Amino acid sequence: MSPRVHPGFLYEFILHPAGEILFSKRITELEPSATIALGNLVKKLEREGTKILSFTLGEPDFTTPTHIIEATKAALDKGDTHYTPSEGNMDLRQAVAERVRSRNSLKAQPENVIILPTKLAIYMAVQALVDDGDEVIFPDPGWVSYGPMVQLSGGRPVPVPMVNMDGWKWELSDIEAAITKRTKVLIMNTPSNPTGSIVDRKEQEGLARLARDHDIRIISDEIYENLIYGETHHSIGSLPAAEDRTITVSGFSKSYAMTGWRVGWMIADPDTIKMVNKLQQHTLTCLPGFVQKGALAGLKGGDSSIEEMKREFRARRDMIIPLLNEIDTISCEVPKGAFYAFFRMDNGKSSLENAELLLKHAHVALTPGSAFGKAGEGYLRMSYAASREDLEAGAAAIASHVSSHQ
Ligand SMILES: Cc1ncc(COP(=O)(O)O)c(C=O)c1O
Repeated sequence: MSPRVHPGFLYEFILHPAGEILFSKRITELEPSATIALGNLVKKLEREGTKILSFTLGEPDFTTPTHIIEATKAALDKGDTHYTPSEGNMDLRQAVAERVRSRNSLKAQPENVIILPTKLAIYMAVQALVDDGDEVIFPDPGWVSYGPMVQLSGGRPVPVPMVNMDGWKWELSDIEAAITKRTKVLIMNTPSNPTGSIVDRKEQEGLARLARDHDIRIISDEIYENLIYGETHHSIGSLPAAEDRTITVSGFSKSYAMTGWRVGWMIADPDTIKMVNKLQQHTLTCLPGFVQKGALAGLKGGDSSIEEMKREFRARRDMIIPLLNEIDTISCEVPKGAFYAFFRMDNGKSSLENAELLLKHAHVALTPGSAFGKAGEGYLRMSYAASREDLEAGAAAIASHVSSHQ
């Protein structure tokens, strides 16, 4: 039976014989974001009156620095409420270019910069590079949205497992084995969500060589670049072998506690920026001018708020990792960056089963490692973007659950 058109609404919905609305294959095949879904479940339980200690969401539990909020308010008072240039205001593009020249050693001028939410920057980069059937390599375990973004662009996601040897690393030989004639893009992420590991300069040199030898573009996701404890961040786009093929994305969300502002940047060669700008023009149009004024104040306002937040995250990390390691069946390396403890739980259960049991019995919400890829199975992610009291209480609740369920 062929689909029929349901005429009862302003828009006509195509119905299949069972009467359900038909959606595109692309969107039907897409899994909802596992991390957001769990966060929603926690909110539901809380609405029902259960007190949940939630460590699932990836956002700093700090408020946006006052000078950023004040600059935004002033922009609103001045009526900065209209469209802006699609690639972003020139003053902000200039400030971002200056920032990445001095901090990341990237050779950036304003024409190398477009202002957009970081998540969208990654999606648009993939859209701009990938044709149907092209393959995109990304880390496993890795951020939950890389695969879906590739799928939505018609590409084939190729997660390449990392190995956990006192910190998660990508073996070059594993990546090389995954490369085919269709490999178009490699996405890397340093520091990593979910593992907190970093890709150091030496590893980046290997990746850059591989990308050059196989003519692969690199998308470098550096959203956690300011949250590194004790080591220095390095951008692969600054390496001669990678500078002309790398798209670097970062932004304000994690560094300035501005997740809700949806503002970030992409740095790339001017041709890539022009292509992405076409996508921006036909979708988002631009970022609000008042948000860009706030972001500019962030870049111009010094680093004291970043430093303060980083100190607190480090203190929490140094507190929570030993507490987790004291618990039977749990082992956790010290993460070098971001704000996640990615720990192993060796009790014969899947990470999803463990996450569900802990939510139900210990009222602690964690993200199952399998949400981040097959290699994440056996692990749970605990975000330490939470108060020290909650972290302590969370570790105690996990410990008591583990000891009573041995
Ligand atoms: C690894 C990684 N990349 C990109 C993003 C997207 O950042 P934003 O919320 O600023 O768009 C996130 C957000 O959680 C992330 O964890």
